[in-house]
Amino acid sequence: MNYRLRDMPMSRFCFVGTVIFVGLLAVCEGRAGGAKLVLTPKPAPAPRINGPTVYGCRPGRPFLYRVPCTGTRPIEFTADELPETLRLDAASGIITGNAPATRGTYRVTLKARNAHGEDARPLRLVVGDQLALTPPMGWNSWYIHYSRVTERHMREAADAMIASGMADFGYQYVNVDDCWTKRKGDEPYRDKDGRLLTNAKFPDIKAMVDYIHSKGLKAGTYTSPGPWTCARYVGAYGHEKQDAARLAEWGFDFLKYDWCSYGSYKHNQDLNVLKKPYLLMGNLLKTADRDIVFNLCQYGMGDVWKWGGQVGGNCWRTTHDLGLTAAGRLPGFYHVGLANARYWQYAKPGQWNDPDYILIGAVGDARTGGRGAPTSLTPNEQYSYMSMWCLMAAPLIFSGDMAQLDQFTLNVLCNAEVIAVDQDALGKQARIVRQSDSELVLAKPLEDGSTAVGLFNLGETPGELSVAWSELGLAGKQVARDPWRQKDLDVAEGKLSARVGRHGVALIRLRPAE
Ligand code: GLA
Repeated sequence: MNYRLRDMPMSRFCFVGTVIFVGLLAVCEGRAGGAKLVLTPKPAPAPRINGPTVYGCRPGRPFLYRVPCTGTRPIEFTADELPETLRLDAASGIITGNAPATRGTYRVTLKARNAHGEDARPLRLVVGDQLALTPPMGWNSWYIHYSRVTERHMREAADAMIASGMADFGYQYVNVDDCWTKRKGDEPYRDKDGRLLTNAKFPDIKAMVDYIHSKGLKAGTYTSPGPWTCARYVGAYGHEKQDAARLAEWGFDFLKYDWCSYGSYKHNQDLNVLKKPYLLMGNLLKTADRDIVFNLCQYGMGDVWKWGGQVGGNCWRTTHDLGLTAAGRLPGFYHVGLANARYWQYAKPGQWNDPDYILIGAVGDARTGGRGAPTSLTPNEQYSYMSMWCLMAAPLIFSGDMAQLDQFTLNVLCNAEVIAVDQDALGKQARIVRQSDSELVLAKPLEDGSTAVGLFNLGETPGELSVAWSELGLAGKQVARDPWRQKDLDVAEGKLSARVGRHGVALIRLRPAE
């Protein structure tokens, strides 16, 4: 048993165990959801390289990757076996250049050193057709800025992604959502050659993208296959080729393609009709001269999880807007998450189910467009939200206010071991082991042979949850590790149990004991 009880804030934890099954620690609390207990340990001063161990890119395309790494700066970065078409800036840890022209797998070792120590981490660069070999991570403007979004917000979000440390955990996309093109009625919408114009809040979008790139981050954007976006701004209809080229020319690395105004189609619409606009844009992006991750946003119509990958999608929204999903007995994210969890068989590297953004911290209200207010989710619910998204290998896109990132919110967003569950190179979404009104058990196999398990208490009072090895397909002794607290808990055999707070989670990583 590796943990010591005196390390634990006992007022917040309890220990559950029997002679047969060794107990686990979990957040114990009453109905209120408890105080804002920070679980994530502070990063050590020595470097720790985070981020995925696999990265997909297309041959010869521009390459940009900022090595996510915690530790006291200055840190000196180096890399072994970096393809010669790439260079790593030793001080910033930013890799630039062009992907190798020859397809294949390039095994790089990233290294970081400072006055306190050093770290090394393998990164497999897979040069081929598939992007987003692990779920995209970043921030999106929608749920805080809505139609008020400006270039300045985007630049400040990029600054905050670095300053807050989020980028050191792998967050890299800085994505503007709707409302950057011309608004309906505000003509002209395009220049005389038909090229898309931005509205006055985006006076120099190319410079904005360059600024985001200068930080080693990536820039994302949004449009619609219809003539109008959901907020009634200009979409791509009839100009798809021109717009794809324009977005690539500006340097965008990610495109969310919404459905609004494309047609008044229903869920059972002919599949070819549903696929058509995505196939068109997907093919254009594939042949663009940059790597642009393609995010389908049509709310799951036509079982998009069955064909989103075939039309070039790297991730696809499986439900309607999370921010508009009313809370019932459970908060909205649970409703969306439970729906998304059902499609676990369809997720794989480069092709992810997208249950929408992480709405914690200070978030807005899509209906009123109001300014951000603190989330109403309890701490337990926030831990559940992040744990569930990571188990589901969901894109981790925060959409709260980057200007109001408090310590608790960052502790939820930035836990390297929790994020590692999401970014695991095996690329499996957790399967539903068991579900009822009062509990949900998810299990995600990981590349190193371990299994991440989430025991979610959907009930209204704290309770004991357990799962047996027979349900998980495991045998023998397993070392149980708590990724939130980054501690080994115990060696368990046969089953594990945890006492879990209302709407809370026990996230556990099980690895076979030697
Ligand atoms: C739709 C999408 C949202 C957001 C808005 C913008 O509702 O689902 O995520 O992009 O459009 O108008």
